[in-house]
Amino acid sequence: MADLEILVDPNVHRAEDDAYPDDWQSETTSIGSSIYRGLMENGRRYQSLRSQEYPVPADDQQFETYEAAHLLAMIMEAGRDNPLFRAPLEDPKHVLDLGTGKGNWAIDVADMFPDATVRGVDLFPPPGTWMPPNCVLEVDDAIQPWTWKDPFDLIHMRVMTASWTDEEWDKIYKQCYDHLEPGGWIEQLEAQPPLECDDGSVSEDNILKTWGPNMIECAKKTGRELNAMHIMTDKIRKAGFVDIQEKKYKWPVGPWPKDQQLKEAGMVNFQHWMSGCEGWCMYLLTKFGDPEPWKKEEVLVYISKLRKELQNPRHHNYMKAKRVWARKPFPEELEKIKANEAAKGKEASQ
Ligand SMILES: C[S@@+](CC[C@H](N)C(=O)[O-])C[C@H]1O[C@@H](n2cnc3c(N)ncnc32)[C@H](O)[C@@H]1O
Repeated sequence: MADLEILVDPNVHRAEDDAYPDDWQSETTSIGSSIYRGLMENGRRYQSLRSQEYPVPADDQQFETYEAAHLLAMIMEAGRDNPLFRAPLEDPKHVLDLGTGKGNWAIDVADMFPDATVRGVDLFPPPGTWMPPNCVLEVDDAIQPWTWKDPFDLIHMRVMTASWTDEEWDKIYKQCYDHLEPGGWIEQLEAQPPLECDDGSVSEDNILKTWGPNMIECAKKTGRELNAMHIMTDKIRKAGFVDIQEKKYKWPVGPWPKDQQLKEAGMVNFQHWMSGCEGWCMYLLTKFGDPEPWKKEEVLVYISKLRKELQNPRHHNYMKAKRVWARKPFPEELEKIKANEAAKGKEASQ
C-alpha cells in the first residue's frame, strides 16, 4: 500500500437515488447519508431512523401517494376558505406537522400564512423540493422528547395510523398538550381500512372486502394498530383538551359518485390507491401475512388482483375518514375543570 494512500469512505456519494442530495458538507455526514439511503427491502425503501418500525415505505412511489392523499383531503374541504385545517385560528404563528411525509400540508400552510413559522417533522427526509422560506422540514422521531422551545398554536397530524403503540399515542398527545400554548389547537385527520360499500355492489368474498380485515390483523401483530381514527378523540380528551369537535367523511374510491365534488375526490382517491396499495401491503404481508409471511411475488399477485377489482366501475367503494380538532384550555378554565372534578369526586364518595 502506498504511503499516502487515502482510503475512500464508501458511504460518501453513494446515495441510492440522485434525487436526494448527499450531505457530505455537513458535520453529520455518516448519519445523514444513511438516513437518505434508508433500508431497501422487496424493492422498496424504508426509513432507517427507527428500526423498521413504520410499516410503509419512504420512497418516490409512496411520496406520490401522499401527494394524492393531500389533494384528496383538500378536495373534500373545497368550498371552505381554509381547506387545510378547521381549528378556528385566523393568524397562526407557530405550527407543527407531525409525520409530515413529503411536507405537502406544511408547505401549503406556510404559503397560506406567510407570517407563521411552519415546522414539519418526519423519520425520513422529504425529497428536495421548493419550500417557502417560513417552512422548515426536519428529520426526527416524534416519540422522543421534543426539543422545540417556542410553544405552538397549532399541532397537526394526518394519516398517522400504525405509527405508534397505544401507550405511545398517549405520549404523543401529552407532548402535543405540553408544547401548545394555552388556547392552542391540536388537529388530526385519519382514514383507514376497511374499504366500505353501502349498496351491496361489492360482494362479501371480493378481495376489496377481505383486504381491510387482512391489513388490520397484520398491523395488530406489529403492536401498532390501524386504529387511529377510532382512538384519537378519546385520547385527545384524556390528554386534557377541551372544545373537542369532529367531522366525519366518506372518501369514495373511483369516479362512481354523482356529486361532482365527490366524483373528483373519487378520481384522485383512485390514483391514491393505485400508487399506494403496494406500499400499504408489502411490509405487513411479507412480515405478518396469514397463515405465514407471504413471499414478495405472492404480494405482487395480490396487489394486481386488488387493482383489477378497484378498476371495476360497478364497485362503489369508499373509505371512512374523520377529522378531530380540540383546544388546550386556558389556566382559568383549568381551575374550573379541577374544581368540577373535585366536586364530582366528593359527590360520588358520599
Ligand atoms: C401515511 S404518512 C402521512 C404523511 C403526511 N402526514 C401526509 O398526510 O401527507 C405517515 C408519515 O408519518 C411518519 N412517521 C411515522 N412514525 C413517525 C415518528 N415516530 N416520528 C416522525 N414521523 C413518523 C412516516 O415516516 C410517514 O412519512
